[in-house]
Amino acid sequence: MPSWNEIEEGVLTIAEKMLDDNFVPDMIVSILTGGVIPAKLISDALGIKNLKYVDIRFYKGVKDRENKPIVRAIYVNDVEAKKVLVIDDVSDTGETLDFAGNIIAMFNPLVVRTATLFVKPWSRKYPDYYYKIIDKWIIFPWDKWEIVRENNEVEVEKKERFLEILKKLKVQKQ
Ligand code: PRP
Ligand code: MG
Repeated sequence: MPSWNEIEEGVLTIAEKMLDDNFVPDMIVSILTGGVIPAKLISDALGIKNLKYVDIRFYKGVKDRENKPIVRAIYVNDVEAKKVLVIDDVSDTGETLDFAGNIIAMFNPLVVRTATLFVKPWSRKYPDYYYKIIDKWIIFPWDKWEIVRENNEVEVEKKERFLEILKKLKVQKQ
């Protein structure tokens, strides 16, 4: 699991690469849900207040996924003639990032670029900016409880406390 320190390294690396490229976007579009925290961090690093969202889900479980990413909602406005940066946490097959980029392109922006913290070597859509190529399964700090909820064998810190919360939720639902 990447530490918070590594997430910060990733965010600053991406900001630096963009500046080296003279690319400062007018707006950031984050892909729900995994892209939200990286997008918030990158938007703060670059001082970009205009932060929007697209709700796209591809995976139903750790291995189980839809045939293609499902677009559930698009929370963007005033995209026309803007320089847009689409942000996600990871590009794996590349489907989600590709899909999101195409959605934003329909709103007539000036330019669309993409950034993710990590990219899998086999991805068919490499983001314009990324921190590291990694071929292992990544548990992001923001996915931790989602993953333990699916498989409580996974060894993570504070798991016992989370499992207690799950138990209490079950009792409340009865
Ligand atoms: C994960 C991840 C990326 C996408 C990458 O999202 O956050 O968005 O999969 O996979 P791909 O490159 O093969 O499309 P997921 O659909 O699990 O939803 P989440 O962000 O809400 O966890
Ligand atoms: Mg995602």
